[in-house]
Amino acid sequence: MSIIYNESNRIFHLQAKDTSYVLQVLERGYVAHLYWGKKVKTSNLSHLLQFKERAFSPNPYPYDLSLSLDTLPQEYPAYGNTDFRSPAYQIQLENGSTISDLRYKSHKILKGKPQLKGLPATYIESEDEAETLQLELVDTVTGLEVILSYTVYEQFNAITRSVLFMNKGNQPLKILRALSMSVDFSDANFDFMQLSGAWARERHIKRRPLVSGSQSVESRRGTSSHQQNPFIALLRRDTNEDYGEAYGFNLVYSGNFLAQAEVDQYDNTRVSIGINPFDFTWILGPGEEFQTPEVVLVYSDSGIGKMSRTYHKLYRTRLCRGQYRDRVRPILINNWEATYFDFNAEKIESIAKSAKELGIELFVLDDGWFGKRDRDNCSLGDWFVNRKKFPEGLEDIVKKVNDMGMQFGLWFEPEMISADSDLYRAHPDWCLHVPNRPCSEGRNQLVLDLSRKEVCDAIIKMVSDILSSAPITYVKWDMNRHLTEIGSASLPAEKQRETAHRYVLGLYRIMDEITRAFPHILFESCSGGGGRFDPGILYYMPQTWTSDNTDAVSRLYIQYGTSIVYPVSTMGAHVSAVPNHQVHRNTSLEMRGNVAMSGNFGYELDLTKLTEEEKGIVKKQVAYYKDIRHLVQFGEFYRLISPFEGNEAAWMFVSEDQTEALVAYFNILAQPNPPMKKLRLKGLNPVINYRLMDTDKIYGGDELMFIGLNIPELKGDFQSVVWRFKISD
Ligand code: DGJ
Repeated sequence: MSIIYNESNRIFHLQAKDTSYVLQVLERGYVAHLYWGKKVKTSNLSHLLQFKERAFSPNPYPYDLSLSLDTLPQEYPAYGNTDFRSPAYQIQLENGSTISDLRYKSHKILKGKPQLKGLPATYIESEDEAETLQLELVDTVTGLEVILSYTVYEQFNAITRSVLFMNKGNQPLKILRALSMSVDFSDANFDFMQLSGAWARERHIKRRPLVSGSQSVESRRGTSSHQQNPFIALLRRDTNEDYGEAYGFNLVYSGNFLAQAEVDQYDNTRVSIGINPFDFTWILGPGEEFQTPEVVLVYSDSGIGKMSRTYHKLYRTRLCRGQYRDRVRPILINNWEATYFDFNAEKIESIAKSAKELGIELFVLDDGWFGKRDRDNCSLGDWFVNRKKFPEGLEDIVKKVNDMGMQFGLWFEPEMISADSDLYRAHPDWCLHVPNRPCSEGRNQLVLDLSRKEVCDAIIKMVSDILSSAPITYVKWDMNRHLTEIGSASLPAEKQRETAHRYVLGLYRIMDEITRAFPHILFESCSGGGGRFDPGILYYMPQTWTSDNTDAVSRLYIQYGTSIVYPVSTMGAHVSAVPNHQVHRNTSLEMRGNVAMSGNFGYELDLTKLTEEEKGIVKKQVAYYKDIRHLVQFGEFYRLISPFEGNEAAWMFVSEDQTEALVAYFNILAQPNPPMKKLRLKGLNPVINYRLMDTDKIYGGDELMFIGLNIPELKGDFQSVVWRFKISD
């Protein structure tokens, strides 16, 4: 049993494998937070609450000066009744007031985990994998009821939270803020970790000590974004990769979000995360419900590495779905960096032919195959094949590629519309826009208004028609600009601020319907690279194009940062040409291969232009990856050296049964007369002996972990080494 309830003191003790999360319903119905951290036996933690009169912390009960919500650790704090810290939610009544007061009404403890209506979330495969606590709270003045849901994944060692708002009163309520969770820590001795960046340098690790006041990351771009990921962690000051406490918060959502930590006057820390209240309201009519997205909470007692592996396993097996969830992913060739828009059927065939000769399994036709698109300024929305490029049609090129013995994949950008498109000419009001204001363009394109059902239906039909027209087994789903002039022609004035969230709900419906209708297709999401690398999208599409930056050195940072939360099986990684198109750096084919082989591997260059020697290397890389991909995609991932801390990076993959491992080491810039270094491995079985493949060298797991491997002397910049171990017989 992972949720223990003590009726006498109304304490709920949520227990995952190594974690306890304890809360209590107080006498007056407030829901107090008692503890979250390393697992403890006792539930009896009410003594942790200390009631004390404090200056300028007012009291909801004037005769009880020791109670103030300003100092009480809470599970879902309100605004306006003595707590001056960040509220988890706020509603506005018809009379304009914005105060409410939720108190405990009832609770249920359920086996399993109910699904969230219309939203992606982690799931269960059998009822005994999880238990769910539903706490029902009510505001008696308005009739607002909320259900705080907590699911404990005991074996996965994670807890999820979400909130359902229900208007059981008789007047409409305006939700101004509806975060997915809030939790109070009793001190502030933490660092705040975030994954931030920009296009082509996504998810760089930033870490800073918490200070008094609020520190936050957020997106106001309509999507989760390259700039900030919907993830934060609190780390103890001395926490590192393998040691110390880490608390992770990851929102399963792909739109505007807010994640913040607020340190109050007494050094308590309140963490909250959810839909960004910025430019958001939601009208909740009588009888209506509003579901917040889910947040996945992970506590680790052994550093950031353990937190990451907990997320990886949960996401790989209980967030990602579909036939490809547990299947090794094909090695692909994508024509984007090979041709950009400049291609025709012959060119595509010639690249596909070379790819086949090298052992590549899937050809992906990127942007430019549809409408009259030869540049990025037209045709989005016109999802029919460009006959100038493919006179025999799409079916013909798919067949040709299939006949070569390769699968065929296709690029789409279904959420967008070009002003120069038949779709726009037919439906000029289908894009997001605000009356009497010009529509800003990004990459020469407008955004379709996915808050409108008919627009979503049209997208589903257009994409489905193409997918049914030929044996397509892979889709790259792109999204190349953020949302501006966010307004919908179909919503009344008072609902305009619902548009951004309705866009995300529309997108989820589209993705849900299409991925269900084509279960044999492997979907890879993309947003100018990794601009929408979030758990919401991973629920529909089990992999994401990690970044438009394919430079091997840049990718060390991007892939390392991404792995803080997201499993390696979700990261697309390709070898591209040199000088690299994004940073103009030259790196060896070997280095590029070793970095890309640390993800879902592929190539993105003109294979017909390779020399015979290069072809030989690529052939070997492809064969090698086929041999190791089960380990890369489904093994446990251990980070060994962070590129953010120096001139090197290293990581490794270990099979679940610990009989196999793959280690990759990268040296960025050559150093003069460098020291001789060892690389200590992790995650192996200390009593097993491992053979270094292709040699007769045997090492004990203990030796590899406690002493390490000699790093050979590497000459020149951008060098890499890969070691592969298997249990020795
Ligand atoms: C952005 C993507 O990230 C690229 O890989 C490529 O598909 C282009 N869009 C095509 O327009």
